[in-house]
Amino acid sequence: MDMTVTNDIKYVGVNDHQIDLFEGQYVVPLGMAYNSYVIMDEKIAVMDTVDQNFYDEWKTNVDAVLGGRKPDYLVVHHMEPDHSANIQKFMEAYPDAQIVSGAKAFPMMKQFFGTDFAGRQVVVGEGSTLELGKHTLTFVTAPMVHWPEVIMSYDSADKVLFAADAFGKFGANDVEDPEGWACEARRYYFGIVGKYGKQAQAVLKKAANLDIQIICSLHGPILKENLGYYIDKYNTWSSYEPEDEGVFIAYTSVYGHTKKAAELLAQKLEEKGCPRVRIADLAREDVPECVEDAFRHSKLVLATTTYNGDIFPIMRGFIDDLVERGYTKRTIGLIENGTWAPTAARVMRKKLEGLKEITYPETTVTIRSALNEASIAQIDALAEELK
Ligand code: FEO
Repeated sequence: MDMTVTNDIKYVGVNDHQIDLFEGQYVVPLGMAYNSYVIMDEKIAVMDTVDQNFYDEWKTNVDAVLGGRKPDYLVVHHMEPDHSANIQKFMEAYPDAQIVSGAKAFPMMKQFFGTDFAGRQVVVGEGSTLELGKHTLTFVTAPMVHWPEVIMSYDSADKVLFAADAFGKFGANDVEDPEGWACEARRYYFGIVGKYGKQAQAVLKKAANLDIQIICSLHGPILKENLGYYIDKYNTWSSYEPEDEGVFIAYTSVYGHTKKAAELLAQKLEEKGCPRVRIADLAREDVPECVEDAFRHSKLVLATTTYNGDIFPIMRGFIDDLVERGYTKRTIGLIENGTWAPTAARVMRKKLEGLKEITYPETTVTIRSALNEASIAQIDALAEELK
């Protein structure tokens, strides 16, 4: 992957292929990249650090770019440890350097490192600038995208936006992602940033006033071409609009009967010409991938069993994932299964009741143990409503 930025801005990030779970929960089969950059000018700014396990590699990269010069600033866009872990080591290695960050970042440094680097702080806020020489950085605050202290910066000389986590994706930069940028960027967005669509929209509005030619995220590739594509995707995702017309069927199944119902619904939707159908067994597929698919499609069907007077726990967790991310602007169909007292649809409906702009089809499918003529007819009716 081409990681050159511009003549003056150099990539010094690292690729992590040792990681098992990113942020303790996301599988990353293609590894993970922690991006960092150096702006070489009369003054030198290093943009963020990397994960704690990669200090030596990162420092070697930084020093190779510095060519014996000393950095003046460490710009900290985000305090999550995948980027901030090496701040203290950096400040020890370069005792004349100052930290440039928002006011909310310094108390976090105190929490992480026991010091807020008093006397070495350059506190910036919305519209603050940092002159490096030919390059001037202008700061844009991005609160709750997805932490409160997040800032972005814009270099007007090379028209580069340093976007913090925004526009990032899962996957290291030294392996080709066969699915391109969007799939793992979408899973990253809905998993990590998804709750904060309103805040992401606010930042996109501010960014719309900037002439951006290059986006440097803290994860994933450097985006240089066709930037409208990436910005459009972020706009769709953060405004909670469906990306594709179609139905995502998410099910759990104990003995396979609910699975059969979900599969029959998928088959009927396809027969009826539904533009896009995807089906997932929540117990066996990556749940963040399923969260992504729930947001991607215009319609969702949840199929599960009554279980301990509630619903199957994996479905309960999935619904929690959607609710906490403010799932909205969708149609949700329900399929329940129960042998002696099917109540799953009612329980699911209750869990979803706080969501805004949700439409429910007239048909709810009730299966008593196994499909029969009556429940097959309900599935047909649901497919007719959702196709
Ligand atoms: Fe990549 Fe929110 O840290």
